[in-house]
Parts: sequence; C-alpha cells; structure tokens
Amino acid sequence: METPTAQAALDLAPSDVQRVPVTFEINGKTHRFEIEPWTTLLDLLRERCHLSGTKKGCDHGQCGACTAIVDGQRINTCLALAAVRDGASITTVEGLADGDTLHPVQQAFIDHDAFQCGYCTPGQICSAVAMLAEGHAKNADDIRELMSGNLCRCGAYTNIVAAILDAAERSDQPLTAPGARP
Ligand code: FES
Ligand code: FES
Repeated sequence: METPTAQAALDLAPSDVQRVPVTFEINGKTHRFEIEPWTTLLDLLRERCHLSGTKKGCDHGQCGACTAIVDGQRINTCLALAAVRDGASITTVEGLADGDTLHPVQQAFIDHDAFQCGYCTPGQICSAVAMLAEGHAKNADDIRELMSGNLCRCGAYTNIVAAILDAAERSDQPLTAPGARP
C-alpha cells in the first residue's frame, strides 16, 4: 500500500477529511460533535460551544489563559486534542456558579479586585478551583508556585493570591498562611 506523502496530506480538500465523532459532558450537559481530528478542546469550546470564557492567549501551552477542568484536572485546553479526550467531563468558567450564586473562588476574585483587563481571569479561576481541590497548597507561597502556569500580563498577582487564600479559608479546608504576603 502506498504511504501518503506530506504533500498529499496537505493537498486534501476539507471534504476529504474524515471527521471524528466525540461526546463530552460540558458544564453538566451532554454534547455530541463531529470534528476534524486536529480540533483542540479550546477551539471546540470556543467555536462549537460558544463558551468564550475560556481564552486563547498564546495557543502554545505557555500562558494558562485556556485552562479548564477536564475530568477533575486543570489542563491547558489549547494543547489537548478533543478527539483524544473523547468522553471527558469538562467544566469551564461558565459552569462554576450554582445558579445566581458564584463559586467561592469567583466571589473572592471580585471581593479582592483580583483582575485588571480580565483576560487571564477565567483561566486563573479554573486553575485555582482545581488547585485547591488537589489539596497541596498550604500557604501563599504554595499558591504562587502551584499557580505559576497561569500568567497575568496585568500583574494582578498580589490580589489573585489574596483571593485564592480567602476562597480557601471560606472552604472546608482552609489553608494555613503563615508569613503570607498576599
Ligand atoms: S492559550 Fe493555552 S496556554 Fe496559552
Ligand atoms: S488581569 Fe489582565 S492579564 Fe490578568
């Protein structure tokens, strides 16, 4: 059998591409799609589900703006092929609130003014929610380390750390924050 060349692959018309059926639970609802094999979770969320809270910053796994919670883990959705994650349960920033009641991390970001332009904020919040659930953060320094994959070009880090500390203290498992310098 003849092996397809790279040029042959590039010459494929969109209609020649075999689409992949996938199913996801997104923010508690089941969604089915037929997607091109190269579709990322980020593009699926933004372009097919119109969940634009998940942001495209670098599109290269370097900024964390695209963070969502997939099967309980925070991931950079720009690096995740949707076809590989078929069947996953996904929570985006749009799925964190309980009706009109914001998630404690969302409320803490508001209370602490933990954003400026807001572009990084959905990723920061999703990352913080999953990070607190991981249970490794014991103080502000841990938060800085464990949130280091989420960049903020506005430099709102001081208030972001304060918000996460506050959210943790409002939860069942408050962090101890000796020497905290939020
Ligand atoms: S957009 Fe995914 S890490 Fe930057
Ligand atoms: S608030 Fe602007 S990038 Fe973080």
